[in-house]
Amino acid sequence: MELKGKCVLLGITGGIAAYKMAGVASALKKQGADVEVIMTRNATQFITPITFETLTGHKCMVDTFDRDFKFEVTHIELAKKADVILVAPATANVIAKMAHGIADDMLTTTVLAAGCPKLVAPAMNTGMLENPITQDNIRTLERYGFTVIPSESGLLACHDVGKGRLPADEVLLDYIHRALAPKDLAGLRVTVTAGPTQEAIDPVRCLTNHSTGKMGYAVARAAALRGAQVTLIHGPTALAPVRFAEDVPVVSAQEMYQAVTGRFADTDILVMAAAVADYRPASVASDKVKKGEGEMSIPLVRTADILGTIGPQKTHQFLCGFSMETRDMVAHSAEKLRKKNLDMIVANNLKDPGAGFGVDTNLVTFLTPDGGVRQLPLMSKEAVAGAILDEILARRG
Ligand code: CTP
Repeated sequence: MELKGKCVLLGITGGIAAYKMAGVASALKKQGADVEVIMTRNATQFITPITFETLTGHKCMVDTFDRDFKFEVTHIELAKKADVILVAPATANVIAKMAHGIADDMLTTTVLAAGCPKLVAPAMNTGMLENPITQDNIRTLERYGFTVIPSESGLLACHDVGKGRLPADEVLLDYIHRALAPKDLAGLRVTVTAGPTQEAIDPVRCLTNHSTGKMGYAVARAAALRGAQVTLIHGPTALAPVRFAEDVPVVSAQEMYQAVTGRFADTDILVMAAAVADYRPASVASDKVKKGEGEMSIPLVRTADILGTIGPQKTHQFLCGFSMETRDMVAHSAEKLRKKNLDMIVANNLKDPGAGFGVDTNLVTFLTPDGGVRQLPLMSKEAVAGAILDEILARRG
């Protein structure tokens, strides 16, 4: 997601994980955000303000009474300017101060003054984290509306193995993106399917296709960031699970059929981006099939058509299908839209450069029952996902 026009304020406190925030600041800048950084005095023992000044192009604030600044009352100006604040790593000390309204340095005064969404990522030694005092303070922050990003387990800098590690950059970035995204899908239950299916021939072989799941995962991620309650039902893929979404892995078309139909009554929007197999072997050999001389053929039978089955039964659900073609794309896709009683179909031609399986871009056309045919320019799959959700929202009214 583009962060152009958004101001992200990073509050960095005195833990060894402070050095990791250079990567987060850099990634945010690359995504177009205006990044401001406030460090506590202790944080500057671990990484210098110059690192963040170079990365962000702004003065990195440390002292409340620094006279070398451009604002009138800096902590108030930054509190007003920020669209989101992330305090990471957050030490037990700063968590305690924020939980009790103590404002004795630049960071804590700014946090207290700010009205924007506030994210806190605790990172410390396991004993300090699990201390009931810290746990109480974390709960207090949550009660006051802070979002606390759970710390991870692993080898800590103090050589202990346990909970207290700062999550990876991508996790922190996902929380920032969610905090900044419009919540126009809040209250909606969105089911997305993605990836290929695998139809077993025997214990070692299967029939499948080249889908990587990227398009469906992008839709699930965008919907989750925009506040929907998302279930991602996916065939075997190499992609990391989508944060903030329920993950339902399946293998075969039949398993996907059961997963989708079982949730259909509780779904408001279904986006079927999966490349579901249309055929499966008539029977699955229980042992590995040995090769012989000459040709071999495998009898195939049709799988259940998931959209074809639920389309005619829909009540309140909005159904968005996908259609991948190599020729006559619009005509074939319009026919699928009609036959499966869909509200929208997203068509793409595998032969178009930049479209289809595996790539990070897509060139799609939206077809709707009113005869609408709208081709979008070549865009990232992330941007296509946003456009699909915009279209669905507009059509649902
Ligand atoms: N689909 C489905 N169940 C299947 C197969 C496909 O729900 N068993 C869904 C896909 O997820 C996609 C849409 O139906 O959203 C595609 O329609 P379909 O007619 O199956 O497309 P193709 O399989 O591409 O059609 P054909 O093989 O006839 O070209």
